Amino acid sequence: MSDRSRSTIEGPMTPLPATLSVTEVLARRLGEVALLFQQSLVNDLPAVTRLTQHVERYRGKMLRPTLVITSGMAVRDGSPQSASVDHRLNALAAVVEMIHMSTLVHDDVLDEADLRRGGATVNTLRGNETAVMLGDFLISSSFHLCSSVGEPWLNTALGAMTTQLCAGEILQLSHRGNVSLDDQTYFEIIRRKTGVLAGACCGFAARLAGGSPETSEALRLYGEELGMAFQIQDDVLDLIGDEQVVGKTLGIDLRKGKLTLPVVIHLARCDGTQRSQTIEAIEQGDVGGLVACVRSTDALNAARERAMQFVSQAKSRLSRVTESPSRHMLESIADAAIERTS
Ligand code: IPE
Ligand code: IPE
Ligand code: MG
Ligand code: MG
Repeated sequence: MSDRSRSTIEGPMTPLPATLSVTEVLARRLGEVALLFQQSLVNDLPAVTRLTQHVERYRGKMLRPTLVITSGMAVRDGSPQSASVDHRLNALAAVVEMIHMSTLVHDDVLDEADLRRGGATVNTLRGNETAVMLGDFLISSSFHLCSSVGEPWLNTALGAMTTQLCAGEILQLSHRGNVSLDDQTYFEIIRRKTGVLAGACCGFAARLAGGSPETSEALRLYGEELGMAFQIQDDVLDLIGDEQVVGKTLGIDLRKGKLTLPVVIHLARCDGTQRSQTIEAIEQGDVGGLVACVRSTDALNAARERAMQFVSQAKSRLSRVTESPSRHMLESIADAAIERTS
């Protein structure tokens, strides 16, 4: 372990007053996570620091760190405070946000996107080569930080998880332009590319917090299903969202030949004439035309309903977790995954 890692993981941590609400504890912890994130990316080269400062400036929704901290709290509810567990959870939260961010930086290269979190993407500002290397720097830093937690199982599990994530992206690429994509393959793509990371946030946090194997598995499944619902909503927003509100370039799935759930459902429902019109809209990259087609079979609502089913499945997993304000927070996070407009 490097000196830098030791000081970030094992540094002093002030115990929080027991009177704080879950929301207040979460806000404090997320502040600490943001700091750890920043410290972990410090580099002796100004060229690197300039880049990492750019991504630090644009904070996203912090969904994944939120899942880590809240799952940890839900498992530890009622147990005495433990600075070492809190340190480990904070480190995991920073690790997953770094992994997430590395996938976004790379994703924007693949998607040729120019807007992310309301700011210019790295590929737009500095070109693809720099963005690819920054994504690598972020993923490498995440594994370095993870090793400093001192839990060998976590390194192994994290490696397996990121491998699945990348495999999901490759599976998606292999289906580009496939107008016969079926819903089961779509679900497998989103489970891997988005679900497994969200599942890891909850499952790994539960294990770090001392949860039983059953509780940790239930939380992993909660996260995975929530992640799938979240991705369906992301795909819906890519079609009908407001770019100013979402803060990233939209309409990209169509431009890149990625068929998402509303389109998959629509193509399975429509007749021959509608199918030809839809394929024409896809080939021409006509978002407005595609949305009109998809609306004609109510497929957008059907996709939203499927997302709702994933959310209720996710929430049902929480029956294995003792009732507490943190568990309620997990329920609200699941609802918010599909109610959001950004
Ligand atoms: C975007 O994730 C990528 C998906 C998995 C849909 P978020 O919507 O959580 O992105 P940020 O972190 O808030 O920017
Ligand atoms: C999410 O896919 C990328 C990963 C999960 C790695 P998207 O391509 O839909 O993400 P956004 O919409 O650009 O954020
Ligand atoms: Mg994208
Ligand atoms: Mg998207």
